[in-house]
Amino acid sequence: MNPQDTSILEMTDVVKRYPDAVGAEGPAVLDGLTLSVRAGESLAIVGPSGSGKSTLLNLAGALDRPTAGSVRLDGRELGQLSGTALAVVRSRHVGFIFQMHHLLPQCTVLENVLIPTLAAGADRSGATRRAGDLLARVGLAGLAHRLPGTLSGGERQRVAVARALINRPRVLLADEPTGSLDRASADALADLLTDLNRADALTLIVVTHSEALARRMGRVLHLSAGRLDGKGGGA
Ligand SMILES: Nc1ncnc2c1ncn2[C@@H]1O[C@H](COP(=O)(O)OP(=O)(O)OP(=O)(O)O)[C@@H](O)[C@H]1O
Ligand SMILES: [Mg+2]
Repeated sequence: MNPQDTSILEMTDVVKRYPDAVGAEGPAVLDGLTLSVRAGESLAIVGPSGSGKSTLLNLAGALDRPTAGSVRLDGRELGQLSGTALAVVRSRHVGFIFQMHHLLPQCTVLENVLIPTLAAGADRSGATRRAGDLLARVGLAGLAHRLPGTLSGGERQRVAVARALINRPRVLLADEPTGSLDRASADALADLLTDLNRADALTLIVVTHSEALARRMGRVLHLSAGRLDGKGGGA
């Protein structure tokens, strides 16, 4: 079968409720949401603030569990995995780029890129070589030994891209990756993400308020009232 035809993420009838202030079940943030993403696809998820976009990404990336429904990532039913097994899925199969890049300020650029390899138990010299290659790929070859505090916002976000890719995930989840960037840096990051999607067949799921970034993805879905709709449908 053509790998492009296979589904890498399958979310079915997903409900997510957070506990309210007194620990009772709160309202459904996601309410019967269904989503199917093909391997190698690029997808934008848009929707108002508070509609549940980060919640959806956290479930897709095994950072959290649904209240009900099924999340299958690369053939694994995440609801059936132990906490340890979920941690393995997170570190080996998914790359995350957060809105706030979450770089460790006391570690150099190179060390930040290497952090996910520590948990994955990778071979050190191979990992360091790959980190150097990725930093070159994102245009930061000369900055490996700088601290994040000395970088521009766009440069920090590119370090976050390199870090997200270090363990060779098949899926890259990005939450507002261009939110804090000026137009030129945002365009450069969009170029980098679309290039990774095309050249490396990396599945790309981007949450964004930016219409410019959303337009560059193969499909755009809108999240509202806890469900997705858009061109191509939610499923
Ligand atoms: N850990 C939590 N505990 C309780 N409620 C939460 C938690 N995380 C999110 N929520 C609530 O769930 C809803 C959806 O939040 P989420 O962060 O997914 O929205 P979002 O679409 O990513 O918004 P934004 O565009 O502002 O980032 C919000 O009402 C939020 O207050
Ligand atoms: Mg959010």
